[in-house]
Amino acid sequence: MAVSKPALPTTLSGALVTDLVYLFYARIREDEVLGPLFEERLEGRWDEHLTQMIEFWESVVLLTGRYRGRPHEKHRGMLLDPQHFWRWLALFEKTTRELCTGHAAETFISRAHRIAESLQIGLNIGPKALRLAKASASSAQPL
Ligand code: HEM
Repeated sequence: MAVSKPALPTTLSGALVTDLVYLFYARIREDEVLGPLFEERLEGRWDEHLTQMIEFWESVVLLTGRYRGRPHEKHRGMLLDPQHFWRWLALFEKTTRELCTGHAAETFISRAHRIAESLQIGLNIGPKALRLAKASASSAQPL
């Protein structure tokens, strides 16, 4: 007889944030492209990073307001490009869909995309950054 799988949660909760952060960063550490970038920057500070990321995601999806960091500054100097962000987002989406569905999954994924876009604008990379560069280049042309 087939054993039916328990239904995935559709509701956001602190427990879900913790599970997602732990599973996602366990996979990040194993990722051949992203893993080394994290290792190089964190130099063993993984516990601290996971605690920060749990607070960050609880603030984003549960509005706890406990996260007080500066994400844009943390990503400077790592030479990130749009491919890194796409890889990060693909792994994040895959992991999220394994742990939850419906409202919870859509909230995590849509917020991750928005924040990734904002980080890329801050780092002056990605499609929006190119559009800004083109816009300023064309406005610099003589009329
Ligand atoms: C493109 C690939 C990415 C890489 C390689 C990356 C790497 C890192 C690293 C190494 C840190 C720790 C910096 C430090 O403590 O000195 C960090 C911090 C952080 N990352 Fe990313 N990141 C990426 C994308 C993202 C995305 C897409 C998000 C959000 C959706 C995000 C959210 C954060 C936040 C909130 C922090 C700050 C945590 C704190 O305050 O300590 N990152 N990231």
